[in-house]
Amino acid sequence: MAHSVFKTANATWHLIGETSPSLQSSDRYEALLHLARLVRKNAYAPYSRFQVGAAVLMGGEIYSGCNVENASYGATICAERSAIFSGVANGARTIDALALTTDPSPGTPLDKRSPCGVCRQVISEFAKDHTPILIDAGEGAAYAGEIIALGQLLPWRFNL
Ligand code: THU
Repeated sequence: MAHSVFKTANATWHLIGETSPSLQSSDRYEALLHLARLVRKNAYAPYSRFQVGAAVLMGGEIYSGCNVENASYGATICAERSAIFSGVANGARTIDALALTTDPSPGTPLDKRSPCGVCRQVISEFAKDHTPILIDAGEGAAYAGEIIALGQLLPWRFNL
């Protein structure tokens, strides 16, 4: 498994798996995570109190989403699907990168910051094995986290 560090002036990313080299632009990654952090503040999570923000690059545009919970728990939607469905509703069909934040404190393990299984499958529908998924590590104002290839997050992902 490829695992290297990609460092820029404002950010430190741990690369896990093979991700699209053309997308290794720090500006783009930072813009995505910035927007995910902003939209997270709008999350409606009165039941879990666990607020999540996502931003997805689809067809050259960035779409954002947050989790929206419901008194009937099963009606809740995650941040990632909310962002992706917005992109699809606007005509986009390809995910080029996705960023996710749960506003963790530094040192929070990856399994407390990662996309849920249902969202991985939905990402998979519109992405490729090497599509980068950015996961915020919660280093305050600095940008830091993992950039994980979808193929690593969801190996042998189901396709028709
Ligand atoms: N949640 C997300 O928005 N994305 C994930 O990938 C994991 C879980 C939300 C759903 C629910 O509102 C809260 O986090 C706690 O599970």
